[in-house]
Amino acid sequence: MSERATVRETPAAADAARRLQRKDLVGIAELSPEEIQLVLDTAEAMKEIGERPIKKVPTLRGRTVVNLFFEPSTRTRTSFEVAEKRLSADSLNIAAATSSVLKGETLIDTARNLEAMAPDLIVLRHPSSGASHLLARTCRAGVINAGDGLHEHPTQALLDAFTIRARKGRLAGLKVAIIGDLVHSRVLRSNVSLLRKLGADVWIAGPATLLPPGVEQFGVRWTTSVDEAIEGADVLMMLRIQLERMRGGFLPSLREYFTIFGLTVERLRRAASDVIIMHPGPMNRGVEIASDVADGPHSVILDQVANGVAVRMAVLYLLAGGVDHEATA
Ligand code: CP
Repeated sequence: MSERATVRETPAAADAARRLQRKDLVGIAELSPEEIQLVLDTAEAMKEIGERPIKKVPTLRGRTVVNLFFEPSTRTRTSFEVAEKRLSADSLNIAAATSSVLKGETLIDTARNLEAMAPDLIVLRHPSSGASHLLARTCRAGVINAGDGLHEHPTQALLDAFTIRARKGRLAGLKVAIIGDLVHSRVLRSNVSLLRKLGADVWIAGPATLLPPGVEQFGVRWTTSVDEAIEGADVLMMLRIQLERMRGGFLPSLREYFTIFGLTVERLRRAASDVIIMHPGPMNRGVEIASDVADGPHSVILDQVANGVAVRMAVLYLLAGGVDHEATA
């Protein structure tokens, strides 16, 4: 077994140097390129644990993680829970719909009451931008942002980078085009930040009504021509049309959107021959992406989901400071 693929006991000083020297992960904006590389390298070891017959190590035994979700989630919530179980942490799952939030309890009061039970980490998804920052400032426990409003979704960007690196061997110099509903996307903001830090050539494209305000300040190339963005691209990241966040007037019709901006087999011919197709999910098939592209040979969409477990294991491990163990099956 390679050194990279093993979580080993190490002397305390060397071990500390391999941890994130921070309490929280609220955004990619705060991470250095070296911290991002540390997460990606640690995720390689975590992925190997997930390929064993017994997919469990005692690394976070005795640690408690609260998964606090105020918005719906399939991939993020379940992959955090799987990651916690694989590291032997104790997980508590709290959804707003079944909590006292429905009785009017605030986020801070909810968090303070949960903190009274001494969790080590809180994983938070919340509809308000900045909710994770607020919680991180209030709580002793570490806070991991699992998506806050229109702000950031850092673990999504990390798993996307891990997936690109696994397929392409690098991120630097790759043309990565992010296409779709840009204005409502926290995935866009985290990915732009991460991809720029690691040297990718980032393009964003979508209808003028869905470009984010201040797009000129993003430090990426932007266009309303999907064909221009796709031309020669190594990576195409399609973003969901977020109808639930739209209050009228953004699009004439979904059918027209698909005709002008949807990723089809025909449009794909403009990309590099070994292009990979990504989507954070959930997908609107026949809106931002055709089904034969989503399920086709260039798609790595389910790899993203699988890699989400390894990347979230890495983040939990690097923040929670668990005991390292020789990773025996
Ligand atoms: N990518 C993502 O955040 O998916 P979920 O909303 O299902 O968690």
